[in-house]
Amino acid sequence: MRICWITISLVLLTSAPLSIYSEQRHLVNMTLVQNATAQGAGNLPAYHLDRGFGTGARNWLLQFEGGGWCNDIESCLERSKTRRGSTRYMSKWEIFSGILSNNASLNPDFYNWNRVKLRYCDGASFAGDSMFRNETARLYFRGQRIWKAIILDLLPKGLNGADKALLSGCSAGGLATFLHCDNFTKLLPKNASVKCLSDAGFFLDVRDVSLQHSARLFYENLIVLQGAEQILNKNCTSSRYYPNQCFFPQYALPYIKTPYFILNSAYDVYQFHHNLVPPSTDLRGHWKQCKLNPASCNQNQLIILQGCFRFEMLRALLFFYEYSRKGGLFINSCFAHCQSESQDTWFAPDSPRVHNKTIAESVGDWYFERKITREVDCPYPCDSTCHNLIP
Ligand SMILES: *[C@@H]1O[C@H](CO)[C@@H](O)[C@H](O)[C@H]1NC(C)=O
Ligand SMILES: *[C@@H]1O[C@H](CO)[C@@H](O)[C@H](O)[C@H]1NC(C)=O
Ligand SMILES: *[C@@H]1O[C@H](CO)[C@@H](O)[C@H](O)[C@H]1NC(C)=O
Ligand SMILES: *[C@@H]1O[C@H](CO)[C@@H](O)[C@H](O)[C@H]1NC(C)=O
Ligand SMILES: *[C@@H]1O[C@H](CO)[C@@H](O)[C@H](O)[C@H]1NC(C)=O
Ligand SMILES: *[C@@H]1O[C@H](CO)[C@@H](O)[C@H](O)[C@H]1NC(C)=O
Ligand SMILES: *[C@@H]1O[C@H](CO)[C@@H](O)[C@H](O)[C@H]1NC(C)=O
Ligand SMILES: *[C@@H]1O[C@H](CO)[C@@H](O)[C@H](O)[C@H]1NC(C)=O
Repeated sequence: MRICWITISLVLLTSAPLSIYSEQRHLVNMTLVQNATAQGAGNLPAYHLDRGFGTGARNWLLQFEGGGWCNDIESCLERSKTRRGSTRYMSKWEIFSGILSNNASLNPDFYNWNRVKLRYCDGASFAGDSMFRNETARLYFRGQRIWKAIILDLLPKGLNGADKALLSGCSAGGLATFLHCDNFTKLLPKNASVKCLSDAGFFLDVRDVSLQHSARLFYENLIVLQGAEQILNKNCTSSRYYPNQCFFPQYALPYIKTPYFILNSAYDVYQFHHNLVPPSTDLRGHWKQCKLNPASCNQNQLIILQGCFRFEMLRALLFFYEYSRKGGLFINSCFAHCQSESQDTWFAPDSPRVHNKTIAESVGDWYFERKITREVDCPYPCDSTCHNLIP
């Protein structure tokens, strides 16, 4: 029997309807990086760059694309034949919205920065460096080299003269920010103001509902297969009995020196569906309805979501909340995953708020040090501003 700490009361869910926010689609083209050492089988690293202007011309926002991971040869081989595994199969134009928008009324603080989307095709949050080959198959795990090649390409395009910079990303891209944040700072001018933002990247070292460490096992396999050990923070790995745990943000964060903003839902739907209740733990489908609609969760399921997931998330962030002088936080209680890239959740008349502040306002206040921003929402279902975005 699990012990959970929070007693909950059942109230009917009222979730805000999704807004159809009229917005002109802003498309940005792809730039391929011609760098042989970073490529695998003719597949070049790629990014999309939208130039900054006016007062933002010397500021840079880099955003890692997300998209899950692959942690064994079979799944990586499958992936290599899709847009998740090769820039060859990717869309050549990307919509820049939310934090990437170039419109001041949709993205008040970053609209005129140089904005870059780093395309994700390595399957390990840009962290791997290894290779697999046998007579019939060949796989390149080139995450670290792709990261480096893209940065080297951007430096002479103005990144080497940056005044302000923000490294962001969502999901697997949010996790990538933790792995590369201090490295990013080192590559930029000493006097630049550099900060990092993780959106839905705070993956917890949480036990699943059958009490197994399935998330830990998943990432362990990923690290070993793709050769990601070298990139883990040395001060973190030397402090832990299981060094590979430093892939988890909760253990690495205290060792990261660059100022951080953590944006996450306390009921992150990806983690809920894959790490807390992976399909293998729910063969009978008891969680099916609850996964599709939080209003259908029974009392027991809510206790697990509140006490064993939200509680664990807040506990993992307590140190950061209390002691990080330059840190920012926005932990809302929406069933969502990634809230900075879509206009609806980033900055719109009806977008999610905590203490009446949108995510865009919170991130901006933190970045520009206008206000200390550490927003933690009340537990589900109290927040009526949510856009519950369930895949
Ligand atoms: C992509 O955009 C840049 C800047 O607008 C331009 O210089 C370049 O020619 C474009 N490339 C393609 C393939 O359209
Ligand atoms: C910026 O967004 C606002 C609000 O959606 C819209 O009215 C305006 O036309 C947009 N401006 C441009 C240049 O797209
Ligand atoms: C090469 O590895 C793949 C993936 O593990 C496997 O399916 C295939 O049979 C292997 N080929 C040989 C010749 O061993
Ligand atoms: C940054 O990361 C790259 C790729 O992992 C590595 O080669 C490089 O040495 C790092 N730079 C610094 C200054 O740590
Ligand atoms: C290509 O990438 C590698 C590793 O990422 C780096 O060491 C090398 O300097 C890059 N070459 C060029 C021409 O940018
Ligand atoms: C950093 O130093 C360079 C060179 O001295 C200067 O041009 C730039 O304006 C400085 N940037 C900031 C943010 O102070
Ligand atoms: C580890 O900590 C020491 C002392 O605070 C610091 O000088 C060093 O840069 C840190 N190393 C990394 C990889 O963060
Ligand atoms: C919430 O903020 C909006 C502006 O973003 C303001 O118009 C509104 O009055 C505020 N509501 C409360 C209850 O403070």
